[in-house]
Amino acid sequence: MKNIAIFASGSGSNFQAIVDAVQTGELAAHISLLVCDKPEAYVIHRARAANIPSFVFRAKEYPSKEDFEKEIARVLSRHNVEWIVLAGYMRLIGATLLKQYEGRIVNIHPSLLPEFPGKDAIGQALAAKARWSGVTIHYVDEGMDTGPIIVQERTPIEENETRESLQQKIQAIEHKLYPSILKMLLTIGDGKHDEKARTY
Ligand code: GAR
Repeated sequence: MKNIAIFASGSGSNFQAIVDAVQTGELAAHISLLVCDKPEAYVIHRARAANIPSFVFRAKEYPSKEDFEKEIARVLSRHNVEWIVLAGYMRLIGATLLKQYEGRIVNIHPSLLPEFPGKDAIGQALAAKARWSGVTIHYVDEGMDTGPIIVQERTPIEENETRESLQQKIQAIEHKLYPSILKMLLTIGDGKHDEKARTY
């Protein structure tokens, strides 16, 4: 069973979906750690409730990204973490973690990438009057939401769609899709075996 760390910055509904999938046995993984860059984030309460240890930090208390990522890397090693799962972690991953976890960092994003990368993808899709949006799960590289795509699922944007209704539809997809794709990834191994991942 693989040890994973989940990185999150906010409410943590995706964190919770993964925790629930592990608890029901749908996903065979051990969630070793939550890494969170926002000490006020609700996801920290979720981790505590699930008895999952957290590493919480404030980026501005470190001289550089390299410094806080080196500390994160030390904590990850201490917990024998093998995969990093980004679930609403609103920060770019830097060279330190990319090197240590090459091919073993995944992210979920609430749009059909390459459309609407970065912050507020749902607001961006509505502002652009897009007819479709959805969810992308991808490997992480040094860019913003640019790594190789593993899977996408789409949903229509209706005429009367509101931010709340679109967010609800997207999150419902995310909460099912992320655990099922993690199950596949943790079974087949790291992203260096890309071809296997892409034929899914
Ligand atoms: C999710 O919708 C996730 O796709 C998005 O943040 C939300 C976190 O919600 N991630 C990004 O926008 C990454 N660029 P959650 O805290 O309830 O899981």
